[in-house]
Amino acid sequence: MASTFSRLRLRLPKLSLILLLLAVFLAPIVLTIPSPHDPTPFSFQNPEVFPDQHPQALETRNFSVAFSLQSSYTAAAVIFTNDDGTLETVTDALQGGTSYRKVMAKLSLYSSQHNAPPYTNEQQYWTDIPRRIRRALRKKSGLPASREVGVLGRQIRKLRRKIESDLSIRVKDAPIAVQHLVALYQDDVEDVAHYAGIEYSEPSGLFHPVLWESGSAYSGYGFGFCKNYTDEEQCRAEDIDRPRIRVFAVHYSRAALGVSMVEVSSGVHPWEPDYRHNENFTLGADAVDSYSSDIDYWADVKAALLDIMVPWTILKKPEKILLTGDMVRGEKFMHVLKTTVEGHLGYVPPIYSDDATVVVAKGAAEMRRRGRQPIVRGYGLEGLSSD
Ligand SMILES: *[C@@H]1O[C@H](CO)[C@@H](O)[C@H](O)[C@H]1NC(C)=O
Ligand SMILES: *[C@@H]1O[C@H](CO)[C@@H](O)[C@H](O)[C@H]1NC(C)=O
Ligand SMILES: *[C@@H]1O[C@H](CO)[C@@H](O)[C@H](O)[C@H]1NC(C)=O
Repeated sequence: MASTFSRLRLRLPKLSLILLLLAVFLAPIVLTIPSPHDPTPFSFQNPEVFPDQHPQALETRNFSVAFSLQSSYTAAAVIFTNDDGTLETVTDALQGGTSYRKVMAKLSLYSSQHNAPPYTNEQQYWTDIPRRIRRALRKKSGLPASREVGVLGRQIRKLRRKIESDLSIRVKDAPIAVQHLVALYQDDVEDVAHYAGIEYSEPSGLFHPVLWESGSAYSGYGFGFCKNYTDEEQCRAEDIDRPRIRVFAVHYSRAALGVSMVEVSSGVHPWEPDYRHNENFTLGADAVDSYSSDIDYWADVKAALLDIMVPWTILKKPEKILLTGDMVRGEKFMHVLKTTVEGHLGYVPPIYSDDATVVVAKGAAEMRRRGRQPIVRGYGLEGLSSD
């Protein structure tokens, strides 16, 4: 066996050729396995995923729903449209347990990164095929696509069921806005929705997935929307005129401190490359107990804020500070944030912190209310230039 393999390698010196052959054999298998976008959102082998039955009368108003997956909890927002056209927003949040936090922390690490669509070269596509087959086979047998998807999906499902019974609604589809974790990919997000029993919906105009927390928070604080979204022509004109500004986004929860310097003109167009952003799962509010003194903890928080702020405020200063997370209202945190920003910039831009726990879900629900776009994804190679 070993000798066959080494002979094969001798004759085909390039690893990529072997992978190519492998892929040619495996591609038909992959192609016949339903993708998450096939119109079979519920698995009948797994009764847990089948939609719940509601004995009470269902809500008759139109509504849109979105969820957020954040460091230590998930949130949901539901926007109802009343008969007179006014809106009513209801939100809820659910703390995640230890396994939830562990998964989120794991996905925040560069060491957890792996190939996933969209690929930047063909080699990535071929080498990712075994992973995709594994996921497809798991889903076929009613399992979540991966262990991580299972943990996150169960959490969303729990919250989905809670709001469904509290509000007498049935959630069919929803976008899921997520914390910017370097190893959380769009296929995970869509499989999380699938496992939670909802169809993933992509807000209209989304620049490209994933639907990041910072863009949704920008929307949740009411920025970047056109006045009348049913007037497409007017909206296009407003989109073009809307300035792209720099925003300092800070997430603070029991589990993590996230810091980002994002360029944004609207919630569907955030520009936040990995290097302008950091999520630290050892600097959440709970971590203070692991420090020998509070002073050391807050010094590390300050350093983490400056770490992103210093390199990204030289040419252009942030015009707003957007806060997300369930621990941002603490006096000490606010004080450290303000003094750190003032010490570096010489002033403190307006800070937005109302509803910081659920603002991301609220923003995503408003995006969803304004429409969804069809999800068009090939096999992840569509981003490559043909040469
Ligand atoms: C719900 O939305 C649809 C499509 O926009 C509309 O035709 C319908 O009148 C709305 N129903 C209510 C109760 O507002
Ligand atoms: C929004 O735009 C639509 C389409 O142009 C129009 O019919 C509607 O009256 C507008 N609504 C408001 C409040 O201006
Ligand atoms: C998080 O912050 C701690 C304390 O400053 C630091 O030691 C650690 O390297 C940081 N982790 C990441 C992933 O940035």
